[in-house]
Amino acid sequence: MNEARNLEAKIAVVTGAAQGLGKEIARQLATEGAYVILADLQIEKARGAAGELTSEGLVVGVHGLDVTNSAQVDDLFDSIAKERGAIDILINSAGLGQDVCHTVELSNDDWDRVISVNLTGTFHTCRAAGRLMRERESGAIVNLASINGQNPAALVAAYNASKAAVISLTKTLALELAPYNVRVNAVSPGPVYTDFNKKVMTQRAKGLGVAEEGMIERVRKAVPLGRWGEPGDIAGAVTFLCEERASWITGEVLTVSGGLTGVSAAPTKQKCD
Ligand SMILES: NC(=O)c1ccc[n+]([C@@H]2O[C@H](COP(=O)([O-])OP(=O)(O)OC[C@H]3O[C@@H](n4cnc5c(N)ncnc54)[C@H](O)[C@@H]3O)[C@@H](O)[C@H]2O)c1
Repeated sequence: MNEARNLEAKIAVVTGAAQGLGKEIARQLATEGAYVILADLQIEKARGAAGELTSEGLVVGVHGLDVTNSAQVDDLFDSIAKERGAIDILINSAGLGQDVCHTVELSNDDWDRVISVNLTGTFHTCRAAGRLMRERESGAIVNLASINGQNPAALVAAYNASKAAVISLTKTLALELAPYNVRVNAVSPGPVYTDFNKKVMTQRAKGLGVAEEGMIERVRKAVPLGRWGEPGDIAGAVTFLCEERASWITGEVLTVSGGLTGVSAAPTKQKCD
């Protein structure tokens, strides 16, 4: 066991922790000594992830959560505050991609689905946790944005807009909560081959008429550091932003992307399926 752990006795909630980046973030926070609640829509999968982390000697809890449901979000944070006395850390990793599609072909449903999880869901959890952190005058929030939120890629307008708005929300909250010693930052990942990105690669390859392996290699070559990201690359940055050594950092967007600043994809004359 790590001797000088940086998040000893902290209470953390990670949304979207059943898999992908959220799961690795939960692992790293717990490795640093935090008690981490894995909150996800996929409750069975979240239980599986929690079991895996527990078997590694980490101390975690699990909770079913739909971040788009504000009453559910409020209940969760209130119950954690009652049971544990505090909420020190919130990580918003719950998120959705969208079907790769020309914006003029994008359906209301797809637009609403992406905005409601990525943006409104993040607002719900930041509001609920922010209130409790403000009261205790202590806390750290990290929102998962995306390089697409800084430099939009073609064919994923709802996703780009949701992540640009998450950056704006992060910076607004950082200003409002700074007097209460609550820090709010974002991490902007480049491509990491999670379930989320597998789906994007499949759709982009199909749209461009190239093989999926070719698409994956094309992305790899576009990354200045020459490789796809690993969940641990993102989790390391998120964990750092929660620790005392980041205590003078707020309102920042930390890009973790191997140097990639945006995805360039030449739009073709295509329609949604
Ligand atoms: N993987 C990448 O390359 C990449 C790049 C940039 C940004 N991101 C962002 O990082 C975050 C995590 O991505 P990932 O790759 O781990 O994705 P993922 O699809 O592997 O995991 C997302 C998790 O969010 C959960 N979720 C979805 N809707 C939810 C809801 N309404 N309530 C609660 N949980 C919900 C899912 O069940 C899933 O467990 C997302 O916000 C994503 O936009 C990912």
